[in-house]
Amino acid sequence: MAKKKQTLSGKGTKRATKAIKTQYEDLPYPERRPEDERKRLITGSPGHLVELRHTLFNGKLPQDENGNFRVLIAGGGTGDALVMLAQQLTDENIEADIHYIDLSKASRAIAEKRVKARKLKNITFHTGSLLDAADLGDFHYIDCCGVLHHLPHPQDGFKALAKALKPNGGFGLMVYGTHGRTGVYQMQEALRMVASDGSSHDRVEHTKEILGKLPVTNWLNQNEGINDHEVSDTGIFDLLLHSQDRSYTVPELNQELTNAGLKLVTYIDPAPYNPDFYPLPDQTRDVLKDKSLEERAQFCELLSGNMHKHTLYCVPNLRENTITAKPSNMNLVPVFRDIQTEQQFRSMPQGAQLDFTLNRLKFQPTLPPHAALILRAIDGKSSLEDIRRRLPGQPDVFAFQNIFSYVFNVMNSFGKLFLKQR
Ligand SMILES: C[S@@+](CC[C@H](N)C(=O)[O-])C[C@H]1O[C@@H](n2cnc3c(N)ncnc32)[C@H](O)[C@@H]1O
Repeated sequence: MAKKKQTLSGKGTKRATKAIKTQYEDLPYPERRPEDERKRLITGSPGHLVELRHTLFNGKLPQDENGNFRVLIAGGGTGDALVMLAQQLTDENIEADIHYIDLSKASRAIAEKRVKARKLKNITFHTGSLLDAADLGDFHYIDCCGVLHHLPHPQDGFKALAKALKPNGGFGLMVYGTHGRTGVYQMQEALRMVASDGSSHDRVEHTKEILGKLPVTNWLNQNEGINDHEVSDTGIFDLLLHSQDRSYTVPELNQELTNAGLKLVTYIDPAPYNPDFYPLPDQTRDVLKDKSLEERAQFCELLSGNMHKHTLYCVPNLRENTITAKPSNMNLVPVFRDIQTEQQFRSMPQGAQLDFTLNRLKFQPTLPPHAALILRAIDGKSSLEDIRRRLPGQPDVFAFQNIFSYVFNVMNSFGKLFLKQR
């Protein structure tokens, strides 16, 4: 249940544009029904406990002096990330002090009902701007999904959230990707010419009529990766009638992070940003192997053309380097992302072909022959050393590491396998 309710009235709230406030009061995003909490938990990235503990905290969450993991969900909307992380922390009995902030009271009301339906505790709701985040204290983890690209000056948002991070903290964010949204910005521009007046409802209805008659050559029509406008009225408005919306290429996003004093830890999922997972001529691989991580990611973005959003974890650029858990530490416990992934891979036959589809792109990485034996031994409790000892023939640490680090790299690159401390 909500602990406290607060309204922030700092400078940031006053600077937020009226159009943005109106949009999210009229059309809270995404559309959610609190009664559905009885049926399912929506999970995703960023902000998944298993993923962020591994990626940002070397497999173990930090605590403040009161024993709490401090979390801020910035621009929390109708509560997807809030509900997911609060539920996962509760399930693992981890003490936390979670704060939610959003400009929209209507969105907050839905998030509060979802939290209540699940009887989640230790959450404080704030109505206000994330530009005032530092007024709420400092946080181990800040989550900001699908918000910064809607700010009039996104750099102010990056900086405000970076300022609210503890020095040993980490930040999970999602912003739109330019190339994968081909068609969206052309349609936004066209609609601004003819459907910018009237109520939200009228504008959506007018847009629907236009969408029903799109020329086959229209870029949005051809972009099969974008379908928000086919799902709901809220989706139409958010995608095509938004008053404030920009997207990022990989280099632009990196520049934004650098300017805010942040450094990238990893994209989520990492595989599509890594040329090693694409079929490429040897000559291309040779050239790419000497490029920086950022340049390699930029190449993949240009090559694939399908990245309509970038999800990533980053940290203050002064943070020390023990950030992500490493498979070379035999005391760590490997964990699948969730129970469905565990069921899928623990029953995988030896030699089976992996088959992952991300954003319509098929990846079929190979695993070494004994991978299935290792995957079957992962139970979320046993350490790598325990698993090594239980394997037939008890391989030595060197031989085990050889296979495991390969398996782990593949599985982690597709968001399936992570590590935690006991
Ligand atoms: C597209 S929704 C994303 C909601 C949620 N993060 C999610 O991923 O489901 C964007 C949200 O950001 C909020 N927002 C926009 N600008 C904001 C600001 N300056 N401070 C706080 N919230 C803001 C909006 O009210 C809206 O609820």
